[in-house]
Amino acid sequence: MGVVEGLLALGLILNVCVVCNGGTSSPFVRKVEKAVDMPLDSDVFAIPPGYNAPQQVHITQGDLVGKAVIVSWVTVDEPGSSEVRYWSENSDQKKIVEGKLVTYRFFNYTSGFIHHTTIRNLEYNTKYYYEVGLGNTTRQFWFVTPPEIGPDVPYTFGLIGDLGQSFDSNKTLSHYELNPRKGQTVLFVGDLSYADNYPNHDNIRWDSWGRFTERSVAYQPWIWTAGNHEIDFAPEIGETVPFKPYTHRYHVPYKASQSTSPFWYSIKRASAHIIVLASYSAYGKYTPQYKWLEKELPKVNRTETPWLIVLMHSPWYNSYNYHYMEGETMRVMYEPWFVQYKVDVVFAGHVHAYERSVSAKTWSLKLLALQFLI
Ligand SMILES: [Fe+2]
Repeated sequence: MGVVEGLLALGLILNVCVVCNGGTSSPFVRKVEKAVDMPLDSDVFAIPPGYNAPQQVHITQGDLVGKAVIVSWVTVDEPGSSEVRYWSENSDQKKIVEGKLVTYRFFNYTSGFIHHTTIRNLEYNTKYYYEVGLGNTTRQFWFVTPPEIGPDVPYTFGLIGDLGQSFDSNKTLSHYELNPRKGQTVLFVGDLSYADNYPNHDNIRWDSWGRFTERSVAYQPWIWTAGNHEIDFAPEIGETVPFKPYTHRYHVPYKASQSTSPFWYSIKRASAHIIVLASYSAYGKYTPQYKWLEKELPKVNRTETPWLIVLMHSPWYNSYNYHYMEGETMRVMYEPWFVQYKVDVVFAGHVHAYERSVSAKTWSLKLLALQFLI
């Protein structure tokens, strides 16, 4: 290439970059230093007072269409009750629904009693109060159901991933809570507690994370995606069943979308059809996830839900040096379908540096697509 052609090419590239620069969307600049976890006696981890008081209360969507809610919580002194009492804002008549409890062991850790109870047949667009626990240690929370699914329904999703439990995690959660746009549901793109950073994956840090996040997730659903920090595969201490703490603690409505696994599923909420994919489950041809996604994409009704959103943990496009191209093999498998079915937006976590892009295909828009904003 001659000098003139070279300059022309450079000029074209710079021009494309200028045209496609998304600009700075937030004045916030993350500090570079390594995050430090909050000590266990921090106020955000406080155990609610009272014998066998429910703790780590969290909710998520409990069906395909947003008329059900899964309520989960932990009791530690004794099993207690898996009952949820709930009533709508406009009624003082309490309804009662029973759930189930599970426990698990992880090396030398034994979990508390983890309750999961699904409330069904809720009305859309309605505030509900709910109670868990018994007697003096009853705790009360509330949530608001989404509007009926439809193309013209405005709705505000928050987006959080890779949260952990550092001092910065607390800032992140407060940042979300204080946002004047008032997110109504969190799309959580994986990596919850980072308990696996501790010796023997100290599952006490799963409990502390549950108490830390309760202040948001007890009041609005967080839509869960599994990340690498949920794998908890530790054969060196005899823990060979992947995702054991995550699957016991965080239930999702995967059967409602004909999925056979909690790691991939879909929900519809307001004007969005949301597909959750699993970066750390098999996704090659003939695998259960592949077969499910192949059937799922043609089901999306863009007249009903014009927004098609996909959540995954490991991004397909990333210009950062960390985790570079870890999502590449999944991209190769599924990107043609995403193009064919016109996925509007893909949200991913994993890389702790914010990037966003215009639509991309087989890296062909790489130069134009990836821009550091923060
Ligand atoms: Fe990750």
